[in-house]
Amino acid sequence: MERTLCIVKPDGVSKNLIGEVVGRFEKGGLSVVALKMLHMSKKAAEGFYAVHRERPFFSSLTDLMSSGPCVVMVLKGEGAISKARDIMGATNPEDAAPGTLRKDFATDVEKNIVHGSDAPEAAAFEISYFFSSLERF
Ligand code: RTP
Ligand code: MG
Repeated sequence: MERTLCIVKPDGVSKNLIGEVVGRFEKGGLSVVALKMLHMSKKAAEGFYAVHRERPFFSSLTDLMSSGPCVVMVLKGEGAISKARDIMGATNPEDAAPGTLRKDFATDVEKNIVHGSDAPEAAAFEISYFFSSLERF
């Protein structure tokens, strides 16, 4: 069984979408095996998105991610990484397929309400970034 790290980003939390996001993942066949709410400092957001540090949007992305509380969770299931990303939809809501979270709720390419790991190595790093071995099941 594969595991992936997903986040309801601060814009998703402020739009009251925690239940909607978790519900769509669960209806899609994924199980929540860890979950908590936290507020990242700018430094914590920079560490989480370190792979993007050279990108032009790094500063505004880490501002957004540290702008308020978010909900981080570990999802488990067959092909969990790609399944979660299918449920989320494309990064830019203009390109996202109908029925995806980002098509339905994202404001723009940056305020796109959710994050999901994009590969097994990323998932391992991201899960251990937020959860100790005692907090995940
Ligand atoms: P994520 O990592 O958040 O799940 O999103 P993703 O894989 O679909 O997209 P990625 O390329 O990893 O980008 C990470 C996040 O950075 C913001 N972004 N802004 N202004 C822009 O052109 C731009 N491109 C990306 C988004 O919040 C994106 O989710
Ligand atoms: Mg990504």
